[in-house]
Amino acid sequence: MLARGDDRPPNHRTKRYWKVAVLANIKDDTHPKPEGVPPDAFADFDHIETIDSLRSALETDGHETIFIQADMDLPYALKEEKPDICFNIAEGLGGDAREAQVPALLEMLKIPYTGSRVLTNGISLDKTLTKRIWRDRRLPVAPFQEFVAGDESLRPELKFPLFVKPAREGTGMGVDTRAIVKNEKELRERSSYIINTYQQPALVETFLPGREFTVGILGRADAKLYSRNPEWYEKDGFHRFPILELDMRRSVTPKVYSQASKSKEVGEEGAPDYVCPADVEPELEKKLKYFAVRAHQLLNALDVSRTDIRLDDEGNPRLLEINTLPGLTPNYSDLCLQAQAEGIRYEDLVLDILYLGASRWGMVEPREISLEIGKKK
Ligand SMILES: Nc1ncnc2c1ncn2[C@@H]1O[C@H](COP(=O)(O)OP(=O)(O)O)[C@@H](O)[C@H]1O
Ligand SMILES: [Mg+2]
Repeated sequence: MLARGDDRPPNHRTKRYWKVAVLANIKDDTHPKPEGVPPDAFADFDHIETIDSLRSALETDGHETIFIQADMDLPYALKEEKPDICFNIAEGLGGDAREAQVPALLEMLKIPYTGSRVLTNGISLDKTLTKRIWRDRRLPVAPFQEFVAGDESLRPELKFPLFVKPAREGTGMGVDTRAIVKNEKELRERSSYIINTYQQPALVETFLPGREFTVGILGRADAKLYSRNPEWYEKDGFHRFPILELDMRRSVTPKVYSQASKSKEVGEEGAPDYVCPADVEPELEKKLKYFAVRAHQLLNALDVSRTDIRLDDEGNPRLLEINTLPGLTPNYSDLCLQAQAEGIRYEDLVLDILYLGASRWGMVEPREISLEIGKKK
């Protein structure tokens, strides 16, 4: 168990307590959705309870917290509130790189924030671009093709059954069992549906029939210097969470981790079985963790991410996507379940994301490491 009591070494902040603003887009279930948006629009937005949990976690280390809705008034609210740092989980409001909007604004205003920066959040939302980068560096991805118009001729390496999903969404939006297409007719229908409904390209991939895993990563080469939990991090500075398997057999959509299955509570009927740590051969575990770290590094992701991986018909792992703003709802989000499985408290997870972020803005002094030099581990 990696959880610690209050004996953990303190880190050295330039100021003891900060004003931390949690920035997020909140689900509003009380109003009908605006016209012309997909049926599952805003599925990736957060519930206010998640913000409350984050704030309580941050406050356990003495910080003052506020919540600011990441909407069009955000620039004004930031100027008024003047937070020392923002804890960013905002999904953004639209366009081709919405997850990069808040980081871009914060960079412009020179306000420190947690997690990945603009370019990474923009690219990781785009599953096609992400896969091009990974493929270039020989990370295994399923054969894929992007359909922009929908009538493109299918490349010969793409063999049915295929899988069709929006190129730039998350949280299973646009994904249900009809995403699996078995012939040309279904392919054309589904691609047109995705392009028209989601107003973006459709990503067409080989259907991966095997087991599904997600692998969380925390840290950075110099994480030990700033973390309150230096023992979490391996020599390369990364912590690899135990692998979570999404066993979809009993879910509402038995083959895919769809929006419908993701929206069920853990343990609820129709939810997938969340198995953590997954029961996998050591060889496969090593590969999955290696790919998740490489996937994170190749996108220049910062401090935290979760990479989704599925096995192909020969049992080989293929990377689906990386989440650089992974959900942080306690007892529910995949990353939180992974942390829980190894005894990492929610509060400690959230605080480490804060301190790793803050350290990049000079808000935490590096830990004195001279004592550790020459000491064998
Ligand atoms: N090529 C594929 N073959 C089989 N299933 C897939 C494939 N791509 C996605 N899926 C299923 O759809 C789910 C959602 O896809 P993913 O790329 O992770 O998008 P997101 O989680 O951002 O909605 C995956 O968790 C997986 O169950
Ligand atoms: Mg996913």
